[in-house]
Amino acid sequence: MSTDKKLVIGLFGFGVVGEGLYKVLKQTPSLKAEIRRVCIKHAGKKRNAPAELFTTEKDDLLFNKDINVIVEVIDDADAAFDIVHTAFKNGKAVVSASKKMIAEHLPEILALQKETGLPFLCEAAACASIPVIRNLEEYYDNDLLHGIKAIVNGSTNFILTKMFEDKLDYTEALLLAQQLGFAESNPALDVEGYDALNKWTFLLTHAYGIVTKSENIVFTGIQNIQGSDAAVAKEKGFDIKLVAQAQKLKSGKVAAFVLPQFVPHDDHLSFVKNEYNGVVIESGFADKQFFYGKGAGSFPTASAVLSDISALRYDYHYEYKKLYYHTPGELTNDFYVKAYVSFNQLTDVPKEEFEWIEEWHGGQERSYFVGVIHFNKLVNDKWWKQHSVSFILTPEPVIESIEIRNLKKRSLELAGII
Ligand code: HSE
Repeated sequence: MSTDKKLVIGLFGFGVVGEGLYKVLKQTPSLKAEIRRVCIKHAGKKRNAPAELFTTEKDDLLFNKDINVIVEVIDDADAAFDIVHTAFKNGKAVVSASKKMIAEHLPEILALQKETGLPFLCEAAACASIPVIRNLEEYYDNDLLHGIKAIVNGSTNFILTKMFEDKLDYTEALLLAQQLGFAESNPALDVEGYDALNKWTFLLTHAYGIVTKSENIVFTGIQNIQGSDAAVAKEKGFDIKLVAQAQKLKSGKVAAFVLPQFVPHDDHLSFVKNEYNGVVIESGFADKQFFYGKGAGSFPTASAVLSDISALRYDYHYEYKKLYYHTPGELTNDFYVKAYVSFNQLTDVPKEEFEWIEEWHGGQERSYFVGVIHFNKLVNDKWWKQHSVSFILTPEPVIESIEIRNLKKRSLELAGII
């Protein structure tokens, strides 16, 4: 598409994001983009837009010759993929905000882009207003990207902030996140970490060229975190955040996970409160860079969709450089992590699975320890996901090798010191 070509949009979904986009586009006439039809599920609902825009027939958009861009912001992943697939087959560019759909259908979406040469832009699907995908795509070379640490789910960050800083209880905080339009229609997707996991799955593709299923990434949400964990965190000078992390190891492979983490007060991510998201990128020569912005909500998400629509005017598409022009990254579970584990009953926690335990605190109701465990043990066993156990990574949790420690221990043993 050339810059003077008019973008004629078929929009799927008129919820928090769809309606936000409608309003934002009306205020951006310079974009030369017009929403021609909007496909919705429920015809009866009152909408803040002219009735003639709306249809419940998806083919009114997908087979409309005037429409050259399909924007899809619905939250049914299967229906969304069906729309994307048909749109591509009908020669239309696609803009999507459906993180679950993208995570579940990444290989097919990549194949469709290759086959048709059409763009598929999805900046709104991760970190809403932060242009993280385009930055990872364009700016950072695979070899120079040492690591990324990010808060990618606004609702969980909002809930943690409201609970532990503003002293709301969990139900109130979640209700507020729902009322403000941050939470998924099934909020368990936020709270239990699925939404962050989905986003992380395709961010890994843009960052490292990794194409994997989300089942291959270790994750949990904030559902098991207790008030006592927040009290320990506070005592130690930490916040608790749900952190998505990827780190390039000396082997060249990539460690990646989405887990709650203690974040020191002087860490960039500690600054990220409420529905904001934050991304800290560590690269070869630039050291750390920090991206910050609203990660959920109507206008912040619509602004990212708008930016993708605008990018279509100069034919922007993702090149997936790390995947197609470099050696794609490879995930590994061969490393160790240092974690804080709290529990009511010791029988819930296989402490013998830990390489070593360096702090132990027995309490009347809740006890905890801090120890180091091989990451593969988290993949193979799910004790750490039980409701009665909180599993929270410590700051800088990844330990690549424990050889040196073991050598030191052996020499102390040989010397008869221990
Ligand atoms: N439920 C999501 C979140 C919406 O809270 O981050 C934005 O993707």
